[in-house]
Amino acid sequence: PCGALLYSSHHFSSVILTESPNALIQAVCAEHSPVPNNDSPLQMQFGSDASTPEKATQRAEQLRAEINRANRLYYIENAPELDDAEWDARMQELLALEEAHPDLKTPDSPTQRVGAPPAAGFDEVVHPVPMLSLGNVFGEEGFRAWYKRALDFLELESAPMVCELKIDGLALAITYRDGVMERAATRGDGERGEDVTANVRTIRSVPLKLEGPPEEIPPVIELRGEVFLPNSKFATLNIEREAAGLSAYVNPRNSASGSLRQLDSTETAKRPLDMFFYALGYLEGAESPSSHWDTLQAINEWGGRKNEWTRKANTVEEVMAAIADAGEVRESLDYGIDGVVIKIDSLSLQRRLGFVGRDPRWAIAYKFPAEQAETTLKAIHVNVGRTGALTPWAELEPVIVGGATVGRATLHNKDEIARKDFREGDRVVIQRAGDVIPQVVEVAAKNQRPEASQPYEFPGTCPSCGTETVQIEDEAVTRCVNGACPAQFERLLEHFASRVALDIEGLGERVSQDLPRLGFVSNIADLYRLHERREDLLELEKMGETRVDNLLKAIEAARSPLLSKLLFALGIPGIGSESAEWLSRRFHSLTGVKDATEEELLAIDGIGPIVASTLIDYFSVEQNRQLIDDLIELGVNPIDDTPEPSADHPANGVRFVVTGRLETMSRSEAQNRIKSLGGKATGSVTKKTNYLVAGAEAGSKLDKAQRLDVHVIGESEFIAFMENGEIPVQPELDS
Ligand code: IVH
Repeated sequence: PCGALLYSSHHFSSVILTESPNALIQAVCAEHSPVPNNDSPLQMQFGSDASTPEKATQRAEQLRAEINRANRLYYIENAPELDDAEWDARMQELLALEEAHPDLKTPDSPTQRVGAPPAAGFDEVVHPVPMLSLGNVFGEEGFRAWYKRALDFLELESAPMVCELKIDGLALAITYRDGVMERAATRGDGERGEDVTANVRTIRSVPLKLEGPPEEIPPVIELRGEVFLPNSKFATLNIEREAAGLSAYVNPRNSASGSLRQLDSTETAKRPLDMFFYALGYLEGAESPSSHWDTLQAINEWGGRKNEWTRKANTVEEVMAAIADAGEVRESLDYGIDGVVIKIDSLSLQRRLGFVGRDPRWAIAYKFPAEQAETTLKAIHVNVGRTGALTPWAELEPVIVGGATVGRATLHNKDEIARKDFREGDRVVIQRAGDVIPQVVEVAAKNQRPEASQPYEFPGTCPSCGTETVQIEDEAVTRCVNGACPAQFERLLEHFASRVALDIEGLGERVSQDLPRLGFVSNIADLYRLHERREDLLELEKMGETRVDNLLKAIEAARSPLLSKLLFALGIPGIGSESAEWLSRRFHSLTGVKDATEEELLAIDGIGPIVASTLIDYFSVEQNRQLIDDLIELGVNPIDDTPEPSADHPANGVRFVVTGRLETMSRSEAQNRIKSLGGKATGSVTKKTNYLVAGAEAGSKLDKAQRLDVHVIGESEFIAFMENGEIPVQPELDS
């Protein structure tokens, strides 16, 4: 007997055992090619004729055509023609040919999908046509109102629409010049994005070259769509990441964005990203189709995949039926959707409708309500927070809700558990909306509880230090009031090192527990003494040289943080990131804050009597004063980060509310910008609000602003205001 091991793309794929060498060759060939070639069995795979440059060129073209066709059938039409081995043989041959004749390499060759060498960063791309966002509605009424506004605007009785799934991924714009992919860019702030061409080349469902007769391909065309990572691949990717010591992605959307923004595109090539196209961005030298529907058809013919579910609708009722259907198929899809996008079909009507702020009047996103799922509440645990608050949470039988696996959810507080009578072992309904923490909504079937089921008893003592807990009247939280509680200190360390505070990488949950438990750190100042104990740290489990050195380096870097960050990081009761800034702006140093009088504190706009007295209390405790002195002694030298706001910037004194997801900065960064210029950033829209800065997926605040006639501005207008003092001009309101 003799046998062969088959490898496909360097990976072991199967074993063949036969009775004779001849039978083996036959079997191997059959495995590699659907057409057995009896004359010269191995010729099939290895012996293509590339003896002259012309023949090599021809052969390369043929292979490319075959691979592209196979890719299209596989990725776009879901009707594979070649099996993996056949596809692989062609790819290997093409790679070998291009290796031998480098001038044969073309940017649209399927071999380019393997990725390019790492880049130093992404170049900026200015979108020729801005990439906008979408307004939201949450129910039939909202949708009806949107449709009516559009029809009133057009003075029409009805306008045909197209319904599409709202894919929960990331928008991309891909430019093709003479049919060949030239550039792919992320949305960025809508005006400018990042050049991610090398990465997008690795996505199999994105055509590197548009298909069809050359005369039907516009000289320059930009296609837009959504990139995503299939749900089924998401779990595997996270398992691999965790095995490699990397943090898991929270949801497929984040993993798609992380994968697309890899500087090393060979890394992106390993991620099974996928894409649906839904629009034409920029077009040069050709007529655009007359409807959105026809645009999608054209994109499909060029080889770009559109989502199959897409359908036409002529009335509100038809749209609602489509939405109901989308809700039903949602579970069975291998990608996350968070709603349905409804677009007016006619492109000339779209042009007439135009935009309000950043949102088109001709399209709207109908968002699904928070997704719910049923699962088993395995156990109730109680966490002790940094300030001693006891927070109960549910350990759940993991379920997928809204595209993410949920294994824990918050139970809020003691009273909530009692009110809803959550018990260990219950079947419960959990809910997750967007990126918020999953919640346990209710018990699914109280009457099906086993007899032994008992109401949950909230611990009367701290699960960490055993101190009796306290619940202040009228307050929902139960607290451990032991200032020396180990759990509180662990949380404080974690908070101190967290991204929003000093951002000390390597000091996460586990290390924050290990360091105090093993006696390395018993107060914050000890962190800055850790470098003296490098040798001891190396003894710790899972702490190799690299990890220890990286941790020490990160702590070193945290020796000169921004003063406001440090004040916030110290976890002083009542001091959030905002009040930390006020303190920093007023006192400019640690000592200044430590020695502040109640009077001085009360004089600060935003600091009331409660916070002032909490601060005074905190700094009257000797250990806390000592901590500040120790930090200074240890060379912790914060930078005074918050200059007095400039009185002459036009934003000075202006009231803003920031809502939705901004692309170039977080909401809190935007608020900081406002405050540093002397503006006010408040949380809720009132008549006094001067501007609502609306990012993507702005919700109820946007509605309210529109109702109150508050001037709504987009991110780019906001930036121009902050940076250049350009005051946004209120657009003429159409009545
Ligand atoms: S149309 C001006 N269609 O949703 C119209 N967007 O909330 C802009 N999205 O940035 C986009 N599926 O990333 C459109 N079928 C779809 C979509 C879709 C997902 C995303 C897209 C956009 C965001 C707006």
